Amino acid sequence: MAGIYIHIPLCKKLCFYCDFYHVISTGDNSALVEAIVREASLRKDYLAGEAVSTIYLGGGTPSVLSDVELGTILDQLRKIYNVEDICETTVELNPDDVTPSYLDGLRRLNINRISMGIQSWRDADLKMLNRRHDSAQAERALKDSLDAGFENISIDLIYGIPGMGLEEWGSVLDYSLAFGIKHLSAYHLTFEAGTVFGKMLEKGLISEIDEEESIALFNLLIEKAEAAGFVHYEISNFGKPGYFSIHNSNYWKQINYIGLGPSAHSFNGYSRQWNVRDLKSYVKSVGSGKPFYEQEDLDLKARFNEYVMTSLRTMWGIDLDYIESTFDKEGYDYVVNLAGKFKDYGLIKQDKKNLVLTNQGKIISDNIISEFMIPADE
Ligand SMILES: C[S@@+](CC[C@H](N)C(=O)[O-])C[C@H]1O[C@@H](n2cnc3c(N)ncnc32)[C@H](O)[C@@H]1O
Repeated sequence: MAGIYIHIPLCKKLCFYCDFYHVISTGDNSALVEAIVREASLRKDYLAGEAVSTIYLGGGTPSVLSDVELGTILDQLRKIYNVEDICETTVELNPDDVTPSYLDGLRRLNINRISMGIQSWRDADLKMLNRRHDSAQAERALKDSLDAGFENISIDLIYGIPGMGLEEWGSVLDYSLAFGIKHLSAYHLTFEAGTVFGKMLEKGLISEIDEEESIALFNLLIEKAEAAGFVHYEISNFGKPGYFSIHNSNYWKQINYIGLGPSAHSFNGYSRQWNVRDLKSYVKSVGSGKPFYEQEDLDLKARFNEYVMTSLRTMWGIDLDYIESTFDKEGYDYVVNLAGKFKDYGLIKQDKKNLVLTNQGKIISDNIISEFMIPADE
């Protein structure tokens, strides 16, 4: 079963950390909506009729669009793709866009999962990140979503914000977990080149927290989320049983998906495509039938690297049967030998035919994953 991702690159305000493709909305969203509708028909054969199980509207800020505009996009997807057995339709919401009537509109569109960008419950953090909401708005938005009948609610949090210590992070987690949420995505703040924070870091106006503190924050996250009944199923993701994100889990399981909208990626097992990362060029090219994406055919090494990179971040880990059947004995031996070294250090454990990171391993997951990567020219 395949997935559909829609990228809505519009934002009302720029978050200082954010590196996702976005532009400040002018208030007139019609050109974007029309282009996405047109792209869906231009690429109607991309999934080759495969049944779709999930739709994910992400951003940017999908909630900059009205429920009617979101409905126009969803109606088109339902016309074009095989969505009869769809089980999860997610939309990312910014708290200050949420009103009871907007939520009713989303329910009428059969959206059944909400991902709310809370980020922190501390107003000082929200100001620092240049978010447009405050903690009171976030609380109201979550309560309104529960009252509107949404039960599958996820929130995003960011930790490692300068000025947020262990105690503050603990309070943010306690406050979050006390809501009836079913899913939590928690990301360590990264300073991306080109963002406001990236530039401030370069100029020495801001500094990253030290490694020891990062580890303590991560450990506290795992401890509190697990104590509240959440399963740590991916490095940054925790879900109550039965509430893992199906859409995101499918990315990690190499399942096909089409991505529509500027900068969206698509994957069909053998190639990856990415749409132009510029709203104006995207709208113009889609409208005139000119190419609007680039494509990379994935050779066996690239497929191996993608598989290891994504699977090792999850609780299911690397499936040795899959490695052997897809990458032959050579791939299998390579993985088993390398994993042996990490097992000796207690960083990887073997669960039947699966290699998974231990909690110690999760702390340095990026380093471990990069050890497994095979350079393109090898
Ligand atoms: C696609 S963004 C969600 C956009 C959503 N409209 C929002 O409320 O911001 C997904 C999440 O990634 C996280 N994120 C984005 N950039 C980050 C960064 N540089 N460091 C840490 N977390 C980041 C944020 O928690 C964000 O909510």
